[in-house]
Amino acid sequence: VKVAELATPALVVDGPAFDRNLARMADARPGPALRPHVKAHKSTALAARQVAIGHRHFTCATPREALGMAAAGLGEDLLVANEVLDPARLTALAGAARAGARITVAVDSDATVDAAAAAGLTEVLVDVDIGLPRCGCAPDDAGRLADRARRAGLSVRGVMGYEGHLMMVLDRADQRARVAAAVDVLLAAHADVGGEVISSGGTGTYDLHDRVTEVQAGSYALMDTHYGQLGLPFEPALRTVATVLSARPRWAVCDAGLKTFGMDHGNPAMDDGFGALRFCSDEHATFVPGPQGVRPGDRVLLRPAHVDPTIAYHEQLWVADGPGLDAEVLDRWPVDLRGW
Ligand SMILES: Cc1ncc(COP(=O)(O)O)c(C=O)c1O
Repeated sequence: VKVAELATPALVVDGPAFDRNLARMADARPGPALRPHVKAHKSTALAARQVAIGHRHFTCATPREALGMAAAGLGEDLLVANEVLDPARLTALAGAARAGARITVAVDSDATVDAAAAAGLTEVLVDVDIGLPRCGCAPDDAGRLADRARRAGLSVRGVMGYEGHLMMVLDRADQRARVAAAVDVLLAAHADVGGEVISSGGTGTYDLHDRVTEVQAGSYALMDTHYGQLGLPFEPALRTVATVLSARPRWAVCDAGLKTFGMDHGNPAMDDGFGALRFCSDEHATFVPGPQGVRPGDRVLLRPAHVDPTIAYHEQLWVADGPGLDAEVLDRWPVDLRGW
């Protein structure tokens, strides 16, 4: 089957480009120096490829991701890099840990420490605010939280801090300096907390972290047009194939819209040669076709602006042997870690 023959809209992975992205990252951050974030792809089949290239420890954003990874036999060392308060989900995570997975959850408050201990979890990491106004404790509270966790019988593996506000700093020297300042904060907290893990970073900063033990990058494997602005050595490996539904003299419409693409980083882009995107509505993208024009029934390719929410809309990734409509479809990876 060719990419052009898939039922649309469908997500297509350029297999060779994906393999090159994995190889480039494994070169820069081999084995446990990378803890790939599964929230970017939500697929145990894709995660198995990351294991095959040497990364056996994963970052998860939701209990569902961690439980699914454990059930798929990928639970050697799972970090839920997020605060969890739901007793039922924490109990399920503790059950997966008793069944043989290693599960560590992030804590940033008395409430998250107490909830983890009450559910029977055994390992936590103190999540520290290093500048992104999201989760994470005040840096000078990290030591106290670690003490509280240890008193509650939890083993504290170390610290994490995610500098998400620095991913898209376009000036490299500026980005380097600001990441270094954020890591200073994380290391000061680590001096109070102890433990062997110092976890940080993402695709936009993966090569600026020589003082942490691991980086949590996820998007690098498939990439999107947003990260494409940074000039990183990772190739666009994810496209959406869509069918032209309607073609008028000055525009055309295909069947991939807001329910196909995560749009918080802006519109998707028409892939090279397919024209210029005008706007998306629920089930449609309106675009100005390239010079060759399009007819109803033609297939077009688009590139998402934000990989994580885009994939979360889909049930599967089709893996092809190249980037174009003529590429052969080789495999199907279920997006099996959706939900919370
Ligand atoms: C906790 C955490 N770590 C790491 C990342 C990095 O992911 P990416 O490499 O896709 O930017 C994210 C993304 O939002 C995150 O929330």
